[in-house]
Amino acid sequence: MVKVDIKYTKLFINNEWVDSVSKKTFPTINPQDETVIVQVAEGDKADIDLAVAAAKKAFYRYSEWRKLDASQRGHLLYKLADLLDRDADYLGELETLDCGKPVKQAIAEVHWSANVVRYFAGKADKILGNTIPADGEVLSFTLKEPVGVCGGILPWNYPIPMFVYKVAPALAAGCTVVIKPAEQTPLTALAVTALIKEVGIPAGVVNVVPGYGPTAGAALSYHPDVDKIAFTGSTEVGKLILTAAPAVNLKRITLELGGKSPLVVFNDADIDEAAELAHKAAFSNGGQCCVAGTRTYVQSGIYDKFVAKAAEIAKRRTVGNPFTDVQQGPQVDSDMFAKVMGYIDAGKKGGARLVAGGDRQGNKGYYIQPTVFADVQDNMKIAREEIFGPVQSILKFDTFEEVVDRANDSNYGLGAGVITNDINIALAFVRHVRAGSVWVNVYEHVSPQLPFGGFKESGLGREMGEDGILQYVENKTVAVSLPKKPLQK
Ligand code: NAI
Ligand code: MG
Repeated sequence: MVKVDIKYTKLFINNEWVDSVSKKTFPTINPQDETVIVQVAEGDKADIDLAVAAAKKAFYRYSEWRKLDASQRGHLLYKLADLLDRDADYLGELETLDCGKPVKQAIAEVHWSANVVRYFAGKADKILGNTIPADGEVLSFTLKEPVGVCGGILPWNYPIPMFVYKVAPALAAGCTVVIKPAEQTPLTALAVTALIKEVGIPAGVVNVVPGYGPTAGAALSYHPDVDKIAFTGSTEVGKLILTAAPAVNLKRITLELGGKSPLVVFNDADIDEAAELAHKAAFSNGGQCCVAGTRTYVQSGIYDKFVAKAAEIAKRRTVGNPFTDVQQGPQVDSDMFAKVMGYIDAGKKGGARLVAGGDRQGNKGYYIQPTVFADVQDNMKIAREEIFGPVQSILKFDTFEEVVDRANDSNYGLGAGVITNDINIALAFVRHVRAGSVWVNVYEHVSPQLPFGGFKESGLGREMGEDGILQYVENKTVAVSLPKKPLQK
């Protein structure tokens, strides 16, 4: 077992590492062998109260943070990005230990996160209002002002990217934050927080409180002094937060939730290339990806050949110790392992044709074989519900109009992809599919400049890009009376 040094296991409030008020701790588990890695301080309502108070104080009008120029906020974020790159190998290894993703991928995600931070660093002094020719004798303009104290509730599938998706735009806009990392993966949020301290971001601007959802997470979302919550996770919890949290103080809510994204392959596609792309779409991060392309629709002319190829690629996929050069490590925890195995069982019992995988791998750790079902029907559980594991469903279709209706027949609308060389088919698909991101002959192409988020029950609001920063500002309209008479002075 690879030894990774763990330096931070406490809460971070007002620039200090502290125990929780209750002194309670919770274990974080190694998904490779189901052992306890370390105990982490367990935050609850009393700790959230302290963290929110620190964030509120740091947001007060004469605070060190509020007095900084916007460009200085940007410079602090540039420094943070450099430290992420500096420590990428360590942070990646720590992530692999806690989360189980292959170490090469984990390190790449740290560099990716550094670039996200750089994008928002550059935005800090470019958040512009408008001058507006309003009716009446007034000079009018808008100011884009920070929304205030922001809560971020994180998932476990991309812990470092999700941390910076919440923190970087908030800081660029001049907000202060309280972050509640996922209970499965608290360690890297704390390690990145140590870099925030090293950069010299003022006390109270970033606070991090590990703990569970119904306790720490709920306390943060209901807190009357929190102005905004940004949440990534399940649609179930997202709905709960959206309906319950604003009832307290009308706080702003952005949600990045689940998906059941379609990837549609037309007859003219190169079968080998299309099958590789569809494989990556379904299996990247072990299928633990909100935009995973888990419904692979294949046109009837190439269906049989495609299924054979997809099965072959899945059987070749390397699964094992994530500290070695594999494509897939274990699933994140016992709950997700059981949930995914339950869906595989439902696929078998529901009449889908199993062409690859279908079982756990080994008998220790949360490893699951890359699994492919063919002849999946739209009404099957595995075609309707988010599985969040290494399971691809292949469905056959005949015509364009039919497949667009079927692709859209979902309560989700996060991502969608199409593989074809016919520009009319590609653009008609782009036009008619109901999803927040649509990819043509590529899948899951994300970039800090591109807004990301969902239609329908996949979420509310967008992260990244210009839209991403606008979720962290309020629009203040100013009208200044102009002199009505000639000035004497
Ligand atoms: P979850 O939605 O329960 O957890 C996400 C975050 O919300 C965690 O930090 C958790 O502690 C917190 N949370 C849970 N209950 C809360 C509450 N009542 N109030 C405030 N915060 C709360 O997701 P979970 O249980 O980890 O996974 C369940 C399913 O969610 C997965 O099977 C998958 O389908 C989906 N999911 C989607 C993600 C995405 O990227 N959109 C990421 C993780 C999970
Ligand atoms: Mg949950």
